[in-house]
Amino acid sequence: MRLVFLGPPGAGKGTQATVQAEKRALHYIATGDELRKAIAAGTPLGEQAKAYTDSGQLVPDDLIIELFKDLLGKPGSEGGALFDGFPRTLPQAEALDRMLEEGGKTLDAVFYFDVIDEAVVHRLSGRRVCRRCGATYHVVYKAPRQEGVCDKCGGELYQRDDDLPETVRNRLRVYQAQTAALLDYYRDRGLLVRIDAGKAIDDVGQMLDDAIDALGDHSDHTGGPAAGQERL
Ligand code: AP5
Repeated sequence: MRLVFLGPPGAGKGTQATVQAEKRALHYIATGDELRKAIAAGTPLGEQAKAYTDSGQLVPDDLIIELFKDLLGKPGSEGGALFDGFPRTLPQAEALDRMLEEGGKTLDAVFYFDVIDEAVVHRLSGRRVCRRCGATYHVVYKAPRQEGVCDKCGGELYQRDDDLPETVRNRLRVYQAQTAALLDYYRDRGLLVRIDAGKAIDDVGQMLDDAIDALGDHSDHTGGPAAGQERL
């Protein structure tokens, strides 16, 4: 099974992707996480990417496609994979099609996390991330047991540089200008499944569970959508 999680910043893609990847033993590829690792390690890619991520712009397609290709080529993705934050532009979507085709693989579904801008700004202003393991929290909706400390590994929680309100607004503009067109791209291919990502974390998780289970049950994609999600 190969899935894409698509949607605006702060829609909850990462929160749900980590759960689904673990539960279904899918190889998890999150380009944003990989860029942050590269920036923290001071690699050449990280140095090139930093100015873009800090300002909320997209990293240029050639750099990100190269990064994604490397990640996809690593052992582990043969059995199934979940792509979070890639593709984000039409050239990236076309590159993904080519890469999968070369490996004789296809996408099973693209989950569109639909949520309004106000919710995004609210969610991202309260997001905290573990510096050590990358686990994500929210000061209200998913609070750690101890403030500032990761439940999973005890690492320090911090606020991402690109979660400042002005940068979030820019990321939303960039999403509309460069990524939203992918909804039509995948709708035309019969792959787009809308998830009402404005609901609470557990409810969104349940909708995804149902929708992904339905894919397994109906590999010809004729599975009917459950409440809160619809195939578009
Ligand atoms: P990336 O890290 O991918 O950021 P993003 O797509 O903007 O997504 P986020 O991580 O901000 O949000 P999310 O949807 O994962 O939400 P989360 O689950 O954390 O990319 C960062 C940057 O890297 C980009 O701006 C770009 O510069 C670059 N980049 C990455 N990929 C690229 C590409 N392919 N091409 C070019 N450039 C690329 O949830 C957010 C918060 O809300 C958390 O606090 C969470 O606890 C909370 N929350 C989650 N769900 C709910 C809910 N249902 N109700 C209430 N709170 C919730």
